[in-house]
Amino acid sequence: MTFEGCDGTGKSTQISLLVRRLEDLGYRVFATREPGGTPVGEAIRSLLLDARGPERTALAEALLYAASRAELVRKVLVPALHENQFVVVERFTDSTLVYQGIAGGVPIEEIEQINRIATGGLSPDLTILLDADDLSEIDQRIRSERAKDKIESRGRAYQARVRDGYRTLARRFPERIKVVLSSGTPDEVSDQVLSLVLAGAKEVFTREGG
Ligand code: TMP
Repeated sequence: MTFEGCDGTGKSTQISLLVRRLEDLGYRVFATREPGGTPVGEAIRSLLLDARGPERTALAEALLYAASRAELVRKVLVPALHENQFVVVERFTDSTLVYQGIAGGVPIEEIEQINRIATGGLSPDLTILLDADDLSEIDQRIRSERAKDKIESRGRAYQARVRDGYRTLARRFPERIKVVLSSGTPDEVSDQVLSLVLAGAKEVFTREGG
C-alpha cells in the first residue's frame, strides 16, 4: 500500500502510527519511502531535494524519481512482498503523476510510460491520500517543521495544482485511492487509516484466497 498527499499532510507520522498498530495486531510490516529506500535512491533524493540544487526540467525530474523507484521495486519491494510482509511506501507512482505530470506539465501518457518501466507493473492495492481542507494549513506545517526543500519551495500555485491533481486522481481511481482528511489529531486520523487498511487487507486476502 502507499501513502500520498501534499507536503505537510503528516504522511510520515501516520505511517509510523500505522506500522506500530499493524505490528500490535500481529502483521509483519515493512515501511519505506520515495525517493529513497536504497543507497542509490537516497543519493537521488539528496540531489532532487537539495534546496540549492540545480534547476532541471520536469521530465528530467520524473526520470530521476523513476530511477529511484526502479531500484526500490527490484531490490526492496518485490523481495519484501515475496516474504509476505505488509509493505507500506510513502509516495509512489501517483506522486510523479501529480508533481511532474499534472502540476509540472509533463504529458500524462509519458509519465504513465515512465512509471510502467520503473515499476515493472507493480502497483499498490490501496492508497491512502491524506488531504487537507485548507492550503494554508499545509503551508503552515511546512513552514513550522524545518527549512523548505526544493519542491516545497515552489510556492502556493504549484502546491495548489498538486492538491487538485491528487483530488483528480482520487476521483479517477475511487476503488484504490481512499481520501482521509488530515485535520484531526494524529490518533483520530490514524483510526480512520487503520480501518481503511484493515478493510483493504481483508479484500486482498479474500481475492488471493489467503
Ligand atoms: P518527502 O519525502 O518529504 O515527501 O519529499 C519528497 C518530495 O519529492 C515531495 O515534495 C514530493 C516530491 N516527489 C515528486 O515530485 N515526484 C515523485 O515522484 C516523488 C516520489 C516525490
